Amino acid sequence: MANEQVKQIDRILHDHLTQWGLRRLTSTRAYLAWEQREASAEDLAHFDRLAERRRGGDPLDDTAFYDLSVQPPLFAILHSQRYDYYQTVGKAIASRIREASTILDVGCGAGILTTFYARLFPDRRFVGIDRSSVSIQVATQKAKELGLGNVSFRWLAIDSKASPPGETYDLILSSHVLVQHEWDSGIPSESWRTFARGRDAARQLAFERRTGVGAALDWLSRALAHEGRMIVVEKTRQLARRVPFQRAVAARGFHMIEKPQPIRYQLFEDAIDDGPLYHLKREGHSWLEWDESPEPDDNPPLNPLDLRYRPVAADAPLYENHKPSAQQAWERLNPRIIVKEATYQEPDGRAFHVELGTSGAYVYLYCANSFDQRQLVVYESRRAAVLEDYYRDITEHMISCSSVKDPAIGGKGESRGSLLASGG
Ligand SMILES: C[S@@+](CC[C@H](N)C(=O)[O-])C[C@H]1O[C@@H](n2cnc3c(N)ncnc32)[C@H](O)[C@@H]1O
Repeated sequence: MANEQVKQIDRILHDHLTQWGLRRLTSTRAYLAWEQREASAEDLAHFDRLAERRRGGDPLDDTAFYDLSVQPPLFAILHSQRYDYYQTVGKAIASRIREASTILDVGCGAGILTTFYARLFPDRRFVGIDRSSVSIQVATQKAKELGLGNVSFRWLAIDSKASPPGETYDLILSSHVLVQHEWDSGIPSESWRTFARGRDAARQLAFERRTGVGAALDWLSRALAHEGRMIVVEKTRQLARRVPFQRAVAARGFHMIEKPQPIRYQLFEDAIDDGPLYHLKREGHSWLEWDESPEPDDNPPLNPLDLRYRPVAADAPLYENHKPSAQQAWERLNPRIIVKEATYQEPDGRAFHVELGTSGAYVYLYCANSFDQRQLVVYESRRAAVLEDYYRDITEHMISCSSVKDPAIGGKGESRGSLLASGG
């Protein structure tokens, strides 16, 4: 899209969000002050209770939460939190609507984005559906106020109980609907040594059932025209959720027509990494392969030979990496002599490993779990005591958190001495 076009869409979107009563606030402090002026303590406490209950995963609780969130006085406050989300996701989706003439926005909520798309493309027909009846009432009323004749809203749930839609659409949009359960940890990797997920059909099915993704995707498949496209932006950035989500999509015959696009927006002071945005189709085939590896990170690779030349502050490690690339760095520590290690394996497949060792003139601490977290810290041997302390703290914490209390069953803790004692 040309620069001028992008600026124009920005202006329309800003104007649109203002018409919905949303504000762009860049500090948490300003936001909280506004929230306290607008809503009573009882309103906020009631909302918090519904938010907590929703975590149980019952669709009725989820709907009660959304019903409340679109009513005054909470509507403008809560949705203003998503101001930058609307800007980012709204633009990313709008630029891909292209030639579609019938567009279904599933889980449209109060229709903030649906009405924006309808405003931007007055010659296309938009339908928004949502299982929150109050959201649909708000959306319908607002579309009327905005004078939009090309958008309508229907109270409908996308799941196995809902009857298939009577018609099919050229394009289906889904943003923050299919995998909302950000507290669902997804599927663990095969072990702490790898990022790979095994092909365990029962685990995949369990993920699709508890998140509702399977039934929702089946429903969407029926609603999409044969040559139709689907644009999906969900909370699937973490590998443990990304892999089963991608597999669920691929199993229904979808392939990507562009590389998944990472989505990043601000939530006041914090940058949120979200998405990615998937642009999908069933018809034809694609040269793009589903990527099941962690996103590349910007940590410097470790070259053990360089360590001695690294200028570091007195108490800083020689090397530190808290990203997935720490696994590669750990593998490059050669030779690697393990002094102590402990592995905790939960019955549900989760595993956590911590290892203290030496590599030439260095000591290292490595932590890895089957939810793709990695951590490597390297010091010179003379500062080994620092890592001994970390190791002890971590293993004590793991023992207190692990459901496996008997090391003979699932936890393995082995010590071949102490770094200090070995003079390492
Ligand atoms: C976080 S809001 C997202 C709203 C909008 N898509 C956006 O991007 O701002 C999630 C919406 O999805 C709706 N929803 C969740 N599961 C649904 C389902 N199975 N069928 C229909 N709507 C659903 C909720 O009621 C809620 O309004």
